Amino acid sequence: MKNKNSFSMKEKDIIYFDNAATTFKPKRVIDKINDYYNNYSANSHRGDYDISFKVDDEIDYTRDNVKKFINAKTKNEIIFTKNTTDSLNTIVFGFFKNYLCDGDEVILSSSEHASNILPWLMLSLNKNIKIVFVDSVNEKLCLDDLVKKITDKTRVISIAQITNVSGDKRDIKKICSIAHAKNILVVVDAAQSAPHIKIDVQDLDCDFLAFSAHKMCGPTGVGVLYGKYNLLKNMIPFTYGGGMNLNYNENSLELASIPYRFESGTPNIAGIIGFGETIDYLNEIGIDYIENKVNLLKRYLLKELESIPYIKIYNKDCEGSTVIINIEGILSGDLGLYLNKNKICVRSGKHCAKMGDNKEDTVRISLYFYNTYDEIDKLVKVLKDKKSIYEFIKN
Ligand code: ALA
Repeated sequence: MKNKNSFSMKEKDIIYFDNAATTFKPKRVIDKINDYYNNYSANSHRGDYDISFKVDDEIDYTRDNVKKFINAKTKNEIIFTKNTTDSLNTIVFGFFKNYLCDGDEVILSSSEHASNILPWLMLSLNKNIKIVFVDSVNEKLCLDDLVKKITDKTRVISIAQITNVSGDKRDIKKICSIAHAKNILVVVDAAQSAPHIKIDVQDLDCDFLAFSAHKMCGPTGVGVLYGKYNLLKNMIPFTYGGGMNLNYNENSLELASIPYRFESGTPNIAGIIGFGETIDYLNEIGIDYIENKVNLLKRYLLKELESIPYIKIYNKDCEGSTVIINIEGILSGDLGLYLNKNKICVRSGKHCAKMGDNKEDTVRISLYFYNTYDEIDKLVKVLKDKKSIYEFIKN
């Protein structure tokens, strides 16, 4: 019998270093999802019968778990979405589309993931607002530049807590304090931070925050949108249908309470239930343990990579779980395929972030706590085998 905390993917003959894209799921999360499909597969908020009540209880359990995980004030501030992208789009088009006026300015960093640039870009194509980008130096956000770029017109700063390519960690608490002193709202893309560091939305004092379950050992298709309750009262649902209304007729629509008005249609019930179990799992391991273990692995990986003279490392000064590299004269995609041939999974290319400090394609090695020193040794060994790399590229 396998341990409930084991990962069946860890038993495959591969080394997985693409954890910033998505993570493996432990047996207990998969079991929890299977249990729903096998034993109480009903819809939520609809049936007057026990298995439907159980679904509602489980979804409520996950909402409460998320609330505690990020220390929101109330569980009504937790909205389930499909993923971080969906959460950010809902924030931009559900809230800021109405909140922003002609001439208002939005501050982003150029190294944001596309999901935190494209919704704003689309909004700016339909509304007379201006997007202002903050510079990075050596892959790190330049806080002085951010402060300089704030004007009387700035209404919102939307920023990743940790970036998905270089792993630049931003001081969100400080950014919120600078912003709030000037009545500017702050949206946080926590897709790469929620899996790795403790998030306390009350301490950070951010206004909105978005993250995905699948990057933290949870199911795909489940995201979280956190918003301060007073702001959510002014957010307009992005989608309309069942479950999000109290009543309607030919002339009017009465919305359900928050957060339900933002969760129209049948949600990803199995995924949400699985996410509740995921948070129990993460709490048992401890987010501090995760942060510390990833830091140790990363330090070791950097030290080993630095010993290979032809490897260029781009983000030595960044704190996140990623290391981005290249070998001069070799396309990052080719290097990715060479590693794949050696059963090592990494991501290569621009990683959905096309406007960052570094415009080159890179190979991204991204770690999670279940990676091992032994796996890093194997990666370093195949990267040290220059002859095999060039033979592979030639063919
Ligand atoms: N956003 C994910 C990544 O950075 C997919 O790889």
